[in-house]
Amino acid sequence: MTDSHADYSSAVATIRQKTDSRPKIGLVLGSGLGGLADHITDRVVIPYEEIPGWPRSTVHGHQGQLVIGQLEGQPVIAQQGRAHFYEGYTIQQVTFPIRVMHQLGVDTLFLTNAAGGLNENFTAGDVMLLNDHINMPGLTGLNPLIGRNDDDIGPRFLGMSQTYDRDLRELARDVALSSGITLHEGVYICLSGPTFETPAENRLLRLLGGDAVGMSTAPEVIVARHAGMRVMACSGITNKSIFEIDSDFDTNHEEVLEAGHVIVPRLMTILKGVLRRLN
Ligand code: HPA
Repeated sequence: MTDSHADYSSAVATIRQKTDSRPKIGLVLGSGLGGLADHITDRVVIPYEEIPGWPRSTVHGHQGQLVIGQLEGQPVIAQQGRAHFYEGYTIQQVTFPIRVMHQLGVDTLFLTNAAGGLNENFTAGDVMLLNDHINMPGLTGLNPLIGRNDDDIGPRFLGMSQTYDRDLRELARDVALSSGITLHEGVYICLSGPTFETPAENRLLRLLGGDAVGMSTAPEVIVARHAGMRVMACSGITNKSIFEIDSDFDTNHEEVLEAGHVIVPRLMTILKGVLRRLN
């Protein structure tokens, strides 16, 4: 297990040895979206394997390194790639980097993910701002806060009705409007993966009120909110969810990575715009 204070502290110490920067803004970049970190200047890059306790990304499309530097005049720390539950990590290992970012002083977290579009109005290449989530693994007993609570970090019982920061969402909407980007808003459903959904599962998820579906983000958001961070998250819609059996198409990882090329510039515009407005 990697959920003791000591483990976070040695990861924090390792990162602090490599940079004097004290970022307050954290970025988590999902599948095919790591290119967002290319815009960070004055950078220090730390491969995950050099940080004690840090889970490595084993998935193609996740670079597996921390990029620390400047974006829009703000010191930021970006995870270029993340670990997922389906890679065999515990849910505490998956969320370990968020606790480390918190201990480094990060108080505002922007997360991105690749997701399937359940909402029939979404097409590949679109961006959706999360205003809520359904954490399926959490509903069935895989909540990252299960276990001993560290009261120094956050409360035993965490309210989740104010999860995606209202002010940050307003800023994101404002940026999208002024830059001509269509920004959907909706509910993200987190599944464990690694299989993509069957048509029957997609119909169920739509009935449940989901607009986008993916394999990450919700556990990290829970741990960030537990530590009191402000959270904003965006899904890059990489594919339309399939609702009918015997469709000629099937969802695949290549299509997910391909759509990232269109999504990265849109997400970058939104992210940079929000950072500018935070200044
Ligand atoms: N389902 C789950 N996760 C995903 C999808 C999807 O359709 N697309 C990208 N990540």
